[in-house]
Parts: sequence; structure tokens; C-alpha cells
Amino acid sequence: MRNLINILDFSISELDELIAVASDIMDNPEKYADKCRGKIMGALFFEPSTRTRLSFTSAMMSLGGQVLGFDQAASSSVAKGETVADTVRMVSAYSDIIVMRHPKEGAPIVASRVASVPLINAGDGGHYHPTQTLTDLLTIHKKKGRFDNLTIGICGDLKYGRTVHSLISAMSRYENVKFVLISPKELQIPDYVKEEYLINSEYIEVTDLEKAIPELDVLYMTRIQAERFESAQEYERLKDSYILNHAKLDFAKSDLSIMHPLPRVNEIDVDVDEDSRAHYFDQAKYGRYIRMALILMLLKTHGVDDKRGFGMEMEGKTCTNPHCISNSERGIKSLFTDNGKCIYCDQ
Ligand code: NCD
Repeated sequence: MRNLINILDFSISELDELIAVASDIMDNPEKYADKCRGKIMGALFFEPSTRTRLSFTSAMMSLGGQVLGFDQAASSSVAKGETVADTVRMVSAYSDIIVMRHPKEGAPIVASRVASVPLINAGDGGHYHPTQTLTDLLTIHKKKGRFDNLTIGICGDLKYGRTVHSLISAMSRYENVKFVLISPKELQIPDYVKEEYLINSEYIEVTDLEKAIPELDVLYMTRIQAERFESAQEYERLKDSYILNHAKLDFAKSDLSIMHPLPRVNEIDVDVDEDSRAHYFDQAKYGRYIRMALILMLLKTHGVDDKRGFGMEMEGKTCTNPHCISNSERGIKSLFTDNGKCIYCDQ
């Protein structure tokens, strides 16, 4: 089965194909209106979502398909103690493709191992969010016309921001991409992202947004992820670390692309919305079309194997990440790669 759990599950040429299909859908929506007639998408949102859930729903409906599922764990049998694996086994029997968002890191891997239909990760804790990255890539393609030779500033919560981890892994595959990672010291990018994806890329870690702005081609702002903090006080201290406003853009390039996965809290002042370089609402709009392209691709390639390794048990070893699914799901084993990384959460 073909799944999307990590953006690197797709090759660069497959991403190019998704972008081409999404662009064609935008130009000729009527051509696609019946492509998923009779198909059902299971949408399992164990964590809050507006854009991702609604854009997936809109995508499936625009293809002529239908959607079932839930938008909070409390309204599913999870509230009765059901495991992720059992929930997904059931929904596999009722749908042709599954989209899942879960607060535990690695939950989509557990799900994909029991699902009998293609599975899409719509965000797993503070780990990955590959379909947001598809939206981000379509935005960069439309606004900049290239993926190579870009200086990309990523600002805010780089520790818990799952969109950031997936965006870095995707963009690090292109030529001459430089990352300027702007965050408070406490919210710097996790080691596994540096070790796995930034190893061959040029990057700097800084704390000052204003100083970084003039050299950027893309500025990707992010929300401080309140729900992932261990301490409410720490969140209060860091929540307004960065606020982008019109004045701070005085020395920015005239063709800067300002992006944000949304929802925004305070990190982009509304006075930026009128700036022609503010692309975050277009970015949200593109989410529908790239998700249509994704659904079509996964339904078409049904039957092709997921090439993910199975991992191995290590004597007495369990994952040390408290947010990892392997520490909460009954009936699954702790499994590691050859170099000792947890196969679920990469830590
Ligand atoms: C993001 C997410 O859920 O990680 N939102 C989204 O899907 N567009 C970003 C966020 O919540 O800050």
C-alpha cells in the first residue's frame, strides 16, 4: 500500500507530478469533478484542526467522493479506551482512504501497519505534517517559480512545529537552499531534524528576526505551539517572541514571500495582510487543490508497497520521548533502526 507519513515518502519527481496535477485542477476543476465518485474518505481527527480537516473534506467532495469520520477523540471509541490500531482497522473496512491526525508522534506508522487502505498523516504531535508541506511547496512553486537557490527563513517554534520539520526535510533535497532558523534558544530545531535533514544543507540558527529579514526569499512564520509545552509559564514567557509587522518589512526584498501554515495568533500583525508579499491566505487556498492531487495519486497507486523498514527490538530498550506513540499504545513493541532511532518518532 502507498501511504504518506513523511514527506520523503515521495520522490522529487512525484512531488513535481502532484504540483502539476494540482495546477491542472485549479485551471480545469470540472475535469476532476467525478474522479472519486463512489469513494469514501475516513477522516480521523484525534486533535483539533480547521484548515487541514476542511480542506481534505473539500478536496474529497470536489472529486465527487464522500467523507466520514470524527473531529475530536472524545466523539470516537477512543474515549472508551480503544487503541489507534483497532480504530484504524475498523475505519479501513468503511473507507477507501484514511486521513489521520493524532497528538502522539509516530501514531500514523502504527495505523499504516494495520490499515488496508492508503493512509495519510495529517499531523502527528510535534513530529511531521507532510500535507502542509505539499501546500507549502505548491505555494513556493506558484510564488517563486523555483525550489533551488532560495534563502528560507523559518521563524517561531522550531522545536514543536511539525510543519517546520516536514518543510525542512522537503526543501533540503533541492540545490543551494539556505535555511535561516530564527527562534528563541529554548525552541530551536530538534537534533533529529538536524541529523537527518540538515546534514548536507547550509543553515544558521539565530534569535533576531529583524536582522535576518533582508536576505530572505521566503519567510515562514509559525505559531508558538501552546499545546505541546510541558509548562504553562514557559509558554507565557515565550509566546510573543516574534511579531512580524509592516515596519519590520522595510528592508525586506521586494519579492519576499511571507508564508504561515495558520492559524496565526500574534506572530503576524494584521497590518501585514495588505502587503502584496503576504501569501499565507493563498497558501491556505492551495491546500484544497494539492490534497485533491494527493488523494488521486494514492488511490491510483493502491497496491504499491510502502517501502518503510520494519525496525527491530533492542534488549530492554524503550523510546525515551514521552510524546511517542510507542509509550501509550497497548500491544505495540518499541522498534528501532540500525542506528538506534525510534522508528515511530525518530528520536
Ligand atoms: C498547523 C498544524 O496543525 O501543525 N496547522 C495547519 O495544519 N495548517 C500549524 C499550527 O497549528 O500552528
